[in-house]
Amino acid sequence: MGETTSRGRFITLEGGEGAGKSTQARLLADSLRRRGVDTLVTREPGGSPLAEEIRGALLSGAVAPLGPAAEAIMFSAARIDHLERTIRPALAAGQWVISDRFADSTRAYQGVLGALAPAFMRELERVAVGENRPDLTLVLDLPADIGLERARARSSVADRFEAEGQSFHDGLREAFLAIAREEPDRCVVIDADQEEERVAADIWRAVEDRLLDLDEPDMERLP
Ligand code: TYD
Repeated sequence: MGETTSRGRFITLEGGEGAGKSTQARLLADSLRRRGVDTLVTREPGGSPLAEEIRGALLSGAVAPLGPAAEAIMFSAARIDHLERTIRPALAAGQWVISDRFADSTRAYQGVLGALAPAFMRELERVAVGENRPDLTLVLDLPADIGLERARARSSVADRFEAEGQSFHDGLREAFLAIAREEPDRCVVIDADQEEERVAADIWRAVEDRLLDLDEPDMERLP
């Protein structure tokens, strides 16, 4: 690479249950690595030792009785550690980071579905994320019932959020689509109700359009 290490790019995958985010994060990382891009895959809640501990409390439902505001604060606390220990150091070292969920999940699950005040949510995100906004967010979209069926097929015990009803998950889908509409420069909606390879191809196209072409303008234009 060049004389100086440039900052890596930060990509997040978002969406409801069973959208295939983890698989697609892995496939995208494979494609980037084949292109010579040093890539780190991480996830939320978790992605650093302390955040993984907090994950246990959140997904077991132990925090749920405290209400959505407390959950939003806990997800954000985990995110602060994840950014501090994992994401920022990787980006600074020039790695690209792919996170399976990030701040849009807090906006959708706790903010919208938990009916929390928008001003509170904005402030919480400002404190936890600050300047560390993703360069690109891929919203994996599919009908909630199909996603839930997939999620339930893969694990016998529903976690805290899988256990919510159909209307919760319909609301989630709409919340993620609303985020994508509000921030079209950052977000691309991907149809996740297709075969894995086709979803991966759509994701790759979005990454090329939004991040890779800009990265190497001179190389592309050379005769
Ligand atoms: P996980 O097992 O990683 O599920 P998935 O494969 O669906 O990502 O569990 C993460 C759960 O936590 C998922 O139900 C979404 C929820 N969540 C929030 O409610 N708020 C958040 O900020 C994050 C990051 C996740």
